[in-house]
Amino acid sequence: MREASWVRIATLAELPEDDVLAVGVDGLEVALYQVAGEVFATDNRCTHGDARLSDGFLMDYCIECPLHQGQFDVRTGEALCAPVTMPIRTYGVRMDGGDILIDISI
Ligand code: FES
Repeated sequence: MREASWVRIATLAELPEDDVLAVGVDGLEVALYQVAGEVFATDNRCTHGDARLSDGFLMDYCIECPLHQGQFDVRTGEALCAPVTMPIRTYGVRMDGGDILIDISI
């Protein structure tokens, strides 16, 4: 069983409700989302092309890529509609007081 590797990535105060925030950590580009009081984390790069999901549009649990409007579920990383077919990586999220931690282990 792999061991979790938790890193502090942002504070909840930095992440508005129903919004997305770009964060860099350990060479990774991560997008953080807050939806219905829950925090989710995914890779920030679209799997279809050179676009940052944090520049896209968040609707409930769905992030829409700004370049060709492909959509992903921020909870699972699942690709939801064309032209995206490959999922995005998701990260485990844990709260520690007002801090957001993600699991960057592979
Ligand atoms: S780059 Fe994201 S849908 Fe094409």
